[in-house]
Amino acid sequence: MKALVLAGGRGTRLRPLTHTSAKQLVPVANKPVLFYGLEAIRDAGITQVGVIVGDTGPEIRQAVGDGSAFGLDVTYIPQEAPLGLAHCVLIAREFLADEPFVMYLGDNFLVDGIRDLVDAFREAEHDAQILLTKVEEPQFYGVAELGPDGEILRLEEKPEHPRSDLAIVGVYTFSPAIHEAVRAIRPSARGELEITDAITWLIANGGRVHSHLVSGYWRDTGRLQDMLECNRIVLEAIEPDIRGIVDGPCEITGRVVIAPGASVENSVIRGPVVIGAHARINGSYIGPYTSIGEGCVVEGAEVEYSIVLGDSTIRGVSGLTYSLIGRNVEVVRAEGVPNANQLMVGDHSRIQVMS
Ligand code: G1P
Repeated sequence: MKALVLAGGRGTRLRPLTHTSAKQLVPVANKPVLFYGLEAIRDAGITQVGVIVGDTGPEIRQAVGDGSAFGLDVTYIPQEAPLGLAHCVLIAREFLADEPFVMYLGDNFLVDGIRDLVDAFREAEHDAQILLTKVEEPQFYGVAELGPDGEILRLEEKPEHPRSDLAIVGVYTFSPAIHEAVRAIRPSARGELEITDAITWLIANGGRVHSHLVSGYWRDTGRLQDMLECNRIVLEAIEPDIRGIVDGPCEITGRVVIAPGASVENSVIRGPVVIGAHARINGSYIGPYTSIGEGCVVEGAEVEYSIVLGDSTIRGVSGLTYSLIGRNVEVVRAEGVPNANQLMVGDHSRIQVMS
């Protein structure tokens, strides 16, 4: 069995971060979301992985390398434009050969991994297995309508009027029968070859398609609230590990990780929190569910429930919460003018200030 990991696409909902970097590399608890997927694939006993890359290919290649750091053997498959999930299967034909495979969307996050799913598929004689889960806003996903015996009646991609609240999770298992399906379908209204349509084609042409309801935690990390929520879930389970320097009067409570080379002085850290390597925290409060990236500087500031990517500076700012801050960003107090907000903000940013 092989794996096909999709790490292309544009990540429009996470702009401006994704103007400059791949959405699959946005970190959750200081680790790119894609790495959780690669580890889940390895833990399911799969080593041969094809990674579909697009415009952000160089960055993905740099982060993942040949896969050996994960115990994987990675082959990169460039996609010239985001032409759909079924298009990814089409261009991976040679890599996949005639083996069954798991297709994993690189921005999806499953807490429980995929071992059970892969084992179930290995034992059964299905042509496709999809995972479903209940969501509050099904219109943003592929949606399944099931019959009384759990059989799939209909699959629709991002329907305006969803027929159920069962979203298709971005992890699928396929037999080689999917190759005929992806060749048979035509692009959808949004101009993409939809995997949902390919699976529908399989069902219509006598394929054995099985659906499985997942109860464990799942998120497509395409939006800010999903990133923060994944961050919270991972941080809730981290093992405290303090390797950096803690100096001066500090209060460190709960699950806190301070990476080697980081320093915390005169600060209050209330876990769960991770502080990346070589970050410097001084005279600050870091509250629950916060990830501070490598090389960040936090001075005289208060931050909670947030993700801060590497090499950013937060100085003299209080009440920072529910925030996602990119790389090399400066969030600092405006000097001179009282009650002033001075901003230099990238395209597609969103700033919510105190009213
Ligand atoms: C894709 C699929 C959709 C699925 C979702 C899960 O959508 O087309 O059926 O529910 O992934 O993450 P996308 O996020 O690529 O728009």
